Amino acid sequence: MRIAMVASEAAPFVKTGGLGDVMQALPNALSKLKGNEICLFLPYYKRIKENPAVETEQVGSFSMELAWRESYVGILRLKSRRKKLQVYFIDNDYYFGARSTVYGDFDDGERFAYFSKAVMAALYFLDFKPDILHCHDWQAAMTPVYLRALYHDWCPQTKLVFTIHNVEYQGWADASFFDNILGLPDEYRASLTFDGAINMMKGAIELSDIVTTVSKSYAEELRYPYYAHRLDGVLRNAWLWGITNGIDTDVFDPETDCALSANYSAADMNGKWVNKRALREEMGLSTDTDAPILGMVTRLAGHKGIDLLCYIGQRLMEREIQLVIVGTGEKQYEYALSALARQYPGRIAVRLCFDPALASRVYAGCDMYLMPSKSEPCGLSQLIAMHYGTVPIVASTGGLRDTVPPYNPETGEGRGFTFQSYNADDFLGAIDRAAGLYYGDRDAWNRLARHDMECDFSWQVPANEYMQLYSELLYGKQ
Ligand code: GLC
Repeated sequence: MRIAMVASEAAPFVKTGGLGDVMQALPNALSKLKGNEICLFLPYYKRIKENPAVETEQVGSFSMELAWRESYVGILRLKSRRKKLQVYFIDNDYYFGARSTVYGDFDDGERFAYFSKAVMAALYFLDFKPDILHCHDWQAAMTPVYLRALYHDWCPQTKLVFTIHNVEYQGWADASFFDNILGLPDEYRASLTFDGAINMMKGAIELSDIVTTVSKSYAEELRYPYYAHRLDGVLRNAWLWGITNGIDTDVFDPETDCALSANYSAADMNGKWVNKRALREEMGLSTDTDAPILGMVTRLAGHKGIDLLCYIGQRLMEREIQLVIVGTGEKQYEYALSALARQYPGRIAVRLCFDPALASRVYAGCDMYLMPSKSEPCGLSQLIAMHYGTVPIVASTGGLRDTVPPYNPETGEGRGFTFQSYNADDFLGAIDRAAGLYYGDRDAWNRLARHDMECDFSWQVPANEYMQLYSELLYGKQ
């Protein structure tokens, strides 16, 4: 199958969140399946252009109209020996090459509309007629729209898949954006218009053959206003499917991860205790204790449940536990958590940074991993934590619900501790249940941690699910 993937980020080139991880692992996993030919399109950001490790070659350039403008489009290809996975960068200095930002510019709408349109033009230029065009989040949302509007005769067979990783950002713009920037035939105005403004994600939802999101529960939740940020009505009318993400088990592997003090596996978890000691020392936590370490590697944002954590901070410290938090984000949370850490030296450590190596050491060195998100499309951290033998304590929402079935003390089944409603006391209750098992039955605790390590969170299963979905779109239900 010929599959074109379009996204605004992909590790290792550029990553600001989980989308970047998925866009590294999914194309890679698909390209390993027999008969597939994958190409991935990304903007040629300044940080990619200036990274000497990213070697590219120019394969073409042309000019493209974006409404009343003529814009340059350069197509660069990553130099690589793997023919089945080609990475292409869309090069334009004005929109991407001369700015240090990835997101957050005043003209993001125009930048990513340009990118989306240029991808279609590049596919045409390369004569790569995809069977499947798979676009991710609002930044790539205009690609399916431009295919329908301008390239349909060239690739009438292509099926369009649109995946929502983050519904909070939808690519809103003023109504005039349709004529001034997008320059589409009038018949597309309705699909792109929402409440009198332009909403690019709505356009992709309406014009794609199928919409997917990154877990089954979240696909259900997106039909409700609480989760859908106003798109619930549009999504109730769409064919919406959930496929749970995996993690790249070559990148996240406690047996080989070189950021760790000791490597370990489910068969021999001794190395994990070496990492626990090392984490205490690195973070300045007291070492003369048997307390469990609770960890979090996260964006410090409201919807990640940081408000709940701040709310229970003092009561948490009445327990015999230690807490490690790594991340950056909203100032109010950075201040609140730093203040808590100052109040309880040796028991709480906060590092306001983004540091993948430190993140690995937290995943490995902690006993419990906290993820009290208000909503969570999939969540990757809980999967990484489990893969490193760290038991998750999560809000039962979206992908967290699907990947962390609650521990049952009677049968020993389950993977972690969960709470149902978004409420600080319930969160604290889940932590107490976890600590109860940790202190009360260490053998059962260790069995749980080992069982989590043994779960298969690789991309193999989701990659096959995507293949099944693609086949169904192309050839009907088999
Ligand atoms: C977004 C979601 C997260 C998901 C990731 C990758 O960052 O918030 O839950 O895991 O995308 O799909």
